Amino acid sequence: MFNKTMVSAVLGLAFFSHNAQAAEPIIIKFSHVVAPNTPKGQAAERFKQLAEKMTAGRVKVQVYPNSQLYKDKEELEALQLGAVQMLAPSLAKFGPVGVKEFEIFDMPYLFQDKVALRKVTDGPIGQKLLAKLDKTGIKGLAYWDNGFKIMTANKPIIQPDDMRGLKLRIQSSKVLEAQMRAFNALPQNMAFSEVYQALQTGVVDGTENTPSNIYTQKVHEVQTNMTLSNHGYVGYAVVVNKKFWDGLPADIRASLERALKETTVYNNTIAQKDNDDAIAAMKATGKVAFHTPTPQERQAWMAKLKPVEKDMASRVGAGLIQEINQATR
Ligand code: LMR
Repeated sequence: MFNKTMVSAVLGLAFFSHNAQAAEPIIIKFSHVVAPNTPKGQAAERFKQLAEKMTAGRVKVQVYPNSQLYKDKEELEALQLGAVQMLAPSLAKFGPVGVKEFEIFDMPYLFQDKVALRKVTDGPIGQKLLAKLDKTGIKGLAYWDNGFKIMTANKPIIQPDDMRGLKLRIQSSKVLEAQMRAFNALPQNMAFSEVYQALQTGVVDGTENTPSNIYTQKVHEVQTNMTLSNHGYVGYAVVVNKKFWDGLPADIRASLERALKETTVYNNTIAQKDNDDAIAAMKATGKVAFHTPTPQERQAWMAKLKPVEKDMASRVGAGLIQEINQATR
């Protein structure tokens, strides 16, 4: 027979263990490969602040920058395994997990500007692409900007032929591989964290990236020339482990969605300025010669890269290219 004391003891215990459980915060490990003072690095920190505030501390976000935990390919595998819960890989890095359609974003000169890009990422095409991740155990939540790419080397890069024979670092995307081959260069697929040393030791001769990534990796210390070509785009898909995300209490998920929405606005507001500031800072060192292509030079690059679209249509989907051209026109 239960007496009153026993009942209150059992209830007390249940209350205690419930509270102990409720007091355990949900941990989100957010791994990324860039420096904290890049658009993505700052956005990850902003997300941490907002997520913790909006969930009243029920979620704790641990941000690991600079490939501290994982390099490019490993971080996606770690996400699928649930070793980390959140990432924001470059859109050029989803081929190895089987979603090659994201490589459409690497297509040279596909987007005139951010307005055109936004029509894709903020519209039905962007949503359709994120949904393609579902089958891989990854849930795509948002797009974050970085910016347009510039080209670096240890010689002036004016005409497309200036890249002939150069070993140029690329991300894992096949579209980027095709782009470098169109220049008659030798594409070298390499993790982001290895770029500085590869340039320093001559394993590669040059690279492409956004000014903020180039500056924060100190590429300007090991390259003498940069061309402000804006020939392609670097942006991110903010992704989570799908099982983890679907298993969250609905109110927590809603708060995190709000935090992410606000963070996306923040990220997309700071990205351009970060890139402009990075160019100014590198110019101020006086050690790098910058070249801005003339309209004729830009035409020559575009003409050289035109075949990439046709070559890669079967990989990213000819229909998708058409849809994007229609949406951005
Ligand atoms: C790269 O690997 O070049 C970059 O996309 C890294 C990043 O996340 O911006």
